[in-house]
This record gives sequence, C-alpha cells and structure tokens, in this order.
Amino acid sequence: MTGSIILIGPMGSGKSTIGRLLAARLRLPYVDSDALIVAHTGVDIPTIFEIEGESGFRERESKIIADLASRREPIVLATGGGAVLDPVNRGHLRSMGRVIYLEVSTGEQLKRIRHDRNRPLLQNTDLDARLKTLAEQRNALYQETAHWRVLGDGLRSDQVLRRILRHLHL
Ligand code: S3P
Repeated sequence: MTGSIILIGPMGSGKSTIGRLLAARLRLPYVDSDALIVAHTGVDIPTIFEIEGESGFRERESKIIADLASRREPIVLATGGGAVLDPVNRGHLRSMGRVIYLEVSTGEQLKRIRHDRNRPLLQNTDLDARLKTLAEQRNALYQETAHWRVLGDGLRSDQVLRRILRHLHL
C-alpha cells in the first residue's frame, strides 16, 4: 500500500473540493480521475457518454484507476461517483492507501448539483428519484470500499477537511 488518500462518494459529495484542500494541506499532488479521463480523451464527459455510452466511459475510468494504482508516489485522488461499481477498481483503490467515503444525503446532493449540466447520468430525469436509485445501488459499495466515512451534510468544506485531518491524526 502506498500512502495515498482516496476520496469516494456520490456526485456532489465534495470529492474534488475536499481533495484539493487536502492535497494542499498534506503537500501531496492532487489527482482527479475524471479530469484525467477528459485529458486523455480530449473531450468532455457528456461527449464520452454520447459517443461511447456509459460502458465506454467505465472502461476509460477503469484504465485510469489501474494506471494510478500501479504508481508508487502518494497522491490525493478524487474519483468519479461510479468508480466503485467495478470490483477490480474497488481493489485498486484500497490498494493505494486510505479510502475515505464522503457521505451525503440525496437531499444535500440535490441542493449542490441541481443545475449541473456536466453529469450525463443526471440529465433529463427526475433528479430526486435518480439520486435515490443511485444511492440504493451504490451506498453499500462505498461502505465496502472505504476504510472510513465522513458525513458531510450541512458542513462546509473546511469542516469536512478538519474531520478528515483528525481521522488521519494530523
Ligand atoms: C459519475 C460521476 C461523475 C463522473 C460521471 C459519472 C457517476 O463524477 O465520473 O459523470 O457515475 O456517479 P463526480 O462524482 O465527480 O460528479
């Protein structure tokens, strides 16, 4: 295991925001797997879904995660909300270091991502119902993958950061 910190959790749980803060605080490189997928592909996530479907996106996501897991330098990694769907990804993420589940309720997610246009899974749908279905499908996987979880409802990012640092004994 390397000493990386890996953030998992649903869309709108704050993985990118907290990840950046945590990386700055720990003086570790910050890596966002979605941003890497976009950089490698050369188009945004909605375009990947449009052309290759969700399965094409998941293949790209798994490749990026396998590649990150093969590196030795510690990083702070923010993952996409669906990264835990693949059991191989789950193993890779746990092999990299401490996995933290940023847990938020669907109500909190709704507040944060109501007007989002960059998340294909949330377009043209009943957002509330969609978020609930995804939570039902995925929450157990977040739990199973994480070493521990932090509840983010009603907390500002600096407060979540403090909780994480406390967990890490920093
Ligand atoms: C997804 C979450 C997104 C992105 C893609 C699919 C998901 O990342 O990977 O749109 O399946 O939950 P964020 O969790 O950073 O929004």
